[in-house]
Amino acid sequence: MTVGMKQRAAVLISGRGSNMAALAAAARDPAYPVEFVLVLSNRAQAPGLGLAAALGVPTAVVEHRAFKGDRAAHEAAIDAALRAADVQILCFAGYMRLLTPFLVERWAGRMLNIHPSLLPAFPGLDTHARALAAGAKLHGCTVHLVTQTMDEGPILAQAAVPVLADDTAETLAARVLVQEHILYPLALRLFATHHPGTPPPADAALLNPQPPEVAPNNPLPPDGAPHSPLPPDAPLP
Ligand code: GRF
Repeated sequence: MTVGMKQRAAVLISGRGSNMAALAAAARDPAYPVEFVLVLSNRAQAPGLGLAAALGVPTAVVEHRAFKGDRAAHEAAIDAALRAADVQILCFAGYMRLLTPFLVERWAGRMLNIHPSLLPAFPGLDTHARALAAGAKLHGCTVHLVTQTMDEGPILAQAAVPVLADDTAETLAARVLVQEHILYPLALRLFATHHPGTPPPADAALLNPQPPEVAPNNPLPPDGAPHSPLPPDAPLP
């Protein structure tokens, strides 16, 4: 990577877009190594699209329904939009479509996803309710590389939260989401400052940002370049 040159990233969303907003907020820091050049949704009504526009990030919609079940054609259209925007890194953030080998192989090693559990525990949906039902004492979130098998790619970073005795799926989800908004920008920064195109070794970045009550604004590792993640309790932009 040329020093000072930012890598161009896109965020793929299907809904709310709070992780996308956390990424875009972090990227406002001139020292952040990534710029977001596109937010792409498979649903025109995704609330995150308005949020992205408000944050000044270009948006695109490639409705999966328009392709009437032709997943390959849908992904070809997504791929074309990403290439037209000269994207280098894909960040999945609440993108609710399974990927085919076409997109996975074309973007291998350059796709990150955030998942709301401490993988390999609780892949798939309803992670918070399942963690409670299983009696987990520790829960959290994971940023990982995307591979063909859902939620199984190499782990880049994780953040843990304790499960409290009176937690519901909703209270637990809210506490995990606070950590997601810290972890994803941090993991992407570490990923982007490694050699582009080369995933870090599996043990390179298992990070647990300090809980907000310990270090409200300091999720960076000691050797990290400064950036400005959302304060954990800040309302999203
Ligand atoms: C997050 O919990 C993320 O971990 C999961 O989907 C949710 C998306 O939320 N993959 P948002 O759209 O980023 O607010």
